[in-house]
Amino acid sequence: MKVLVINGPNLNMLGVRNPKVYGTATYAELVDYIERKAKDLCIDVRVIQSNSEGDLVTAIQQAYKVYDGIVLNAAAYTHTSVAILDALEAVSIPTVEVHLSDIARREEFRHHSFVSLYAFKTIKGFGFEGYAMALEELIKHNNL
Ligand code: DQA
Repeated sequence: MKVLVINGPNLNMLGVRNPKVYGTATYAELVDYIERKAKDLCIDVRVIQSNSEGDLVTAIQQAYKVYDGIVLNAAAYTHTSVAILDALEAVSIPTVEVHLSDIARREEFRHHSFVSLYAFKTIKGFGFEGYAMALEELIKHNNL
């Protein structure tokens, strides 16, 4: 199974950014963690990050007929981007939404997610482990 993991804006700043919320591990460590978990699960994974909404939309479009699943942490665009929701609907690829923090327990403006309107599952508040859980959810979903 081929899975594209897409990380949105400011996730490249992990380790520096708001450590009380996101921890002290770096983005490079997150990528390493995801790649190791994917290998254990026999998933062919590609992990990308962009700060730009258009790049995220393009990455989703280019996943069409290439990837069997998407793990998406759209970061701040989660709460604002109809364009990302439209791209997900356009390609119809099974998608799990991930957030490192529990967005339901944070500021009110983080409670709404456009990505949730498409994703078949949302995992929030489990830190890095949420990405491993998302990969497992995609395996289960693809075996149905
Ligand atoms: C986040 C939560 C978002 O609200 C925030 O804008 C992020 C990261 C998370 O992983 O917890 O950048 O998606």
